[in-house]
Amino acid sequence: MIIYRKADEITQYISNKKKNNISIGFVPTMGALHQGHISLISKSKADNLLTVCSIFINPTQFNNPDDFKKYPITIESDIEMLVAAGCDVLFLPQREEVYPTGFIKTHYELGKLENILEGRFRQGHFQGVCLVVERLLNIIPCDILYLGQKDYQQCMIIEKMTQLRNINCSIKISPTIREKDGLAMSSRNSRLSHSERTAATIIYQALKYIKSNLKNKSIEDIKKTAYQMLEQCEFEVDYIEITDQHLGFVEHQDSNKTLVGLIAATINNIRLIDNLILTDFDE
Ligand code: PAJ
Repeated sequence: MIIYRKADEITQYISNKKKNNISIGFVPTMGALHQGHISLISKSKADNLLTVCSIFINPTQFNNPDDFKKYPITIESDIEMLVAAGCDVLFLPQREEVYPTGFIKTHYELGKLENILEGRFRQGHFQGVCLVVERLLNIIPCDILYLGQKDYQQCMIIEKMTQLRNINCSIKISPTIREKDGLAMSSRNSRLSHSERTAATIIYQALKYIKSNLKNKSIEDIKKTAYQMLEQCEFEVDYIEITDQHLGFVEHQDSNKTLVGLIAATINNIRLIDNLILTDFDE
């Protein structure tokens, strides 16, 4: 695996590959890699001749400075995992490479998507995500961008940003990879104590509860029980919502729509999010 730390060097490398019609898949990450990230690398490898990963803990998307400070850093094992997965290129920039002196911040008109769910609890978060992803796509102009459904709203926001900015790459969204007990893999899970880790399975259990009761209970009652499930396990709930696939809130069961259940909850200052497609009966 080739490691680039300089933006102009990787851009030059990518542009040479493009001239030779080599299709490029790109997986942006903030490191502390787990099998969820690796699943995206595998998808990209299956579709493209060249797979590029980036690791950059983007300061502009952290609304909570403590969360940024405590974000896990595991570069050596990240590199080992990427090599084992067959990733071809890693972009590992310092902050100045991504945001050079004089870099002008863009404001993105993301509409209502920006201020609901995650946006409501993390002011400015999605502006920061758009800023870094647009910049990374500028440095690494790929054919296909790979994102995880784990961050459902982020996928929709990035899709919107690429439309707003006329960025010519397609986006592929991959299913959430979970631990055996259902907890969605996340870099933040490593911060959980043993007992918090055990408690954290309640998030997936609550999503499963929502899914299996959708047909026979009111949405209001289902959400109420799901809240209680989380609170009994010492979680502070930011939201438990049921939406259509475009994140429009749904108050009443509608059998014609694809529905998604989304949860964000915090235990001991560690904020976890997860979601589940409620109308897909395979999962
Ligand atoms: P990060 O949290 O490192 O996630 C990188 C990518 O991995 C995202 O597309 C995310 O949705 C996906 N991912 C995370 N956990 C997953 C899981 N359990 N299963 C499948 N995919 C999973 O998301 C970010 O970084 C940043 O916001 C970023 C897009 C890199 C911009 O800074």
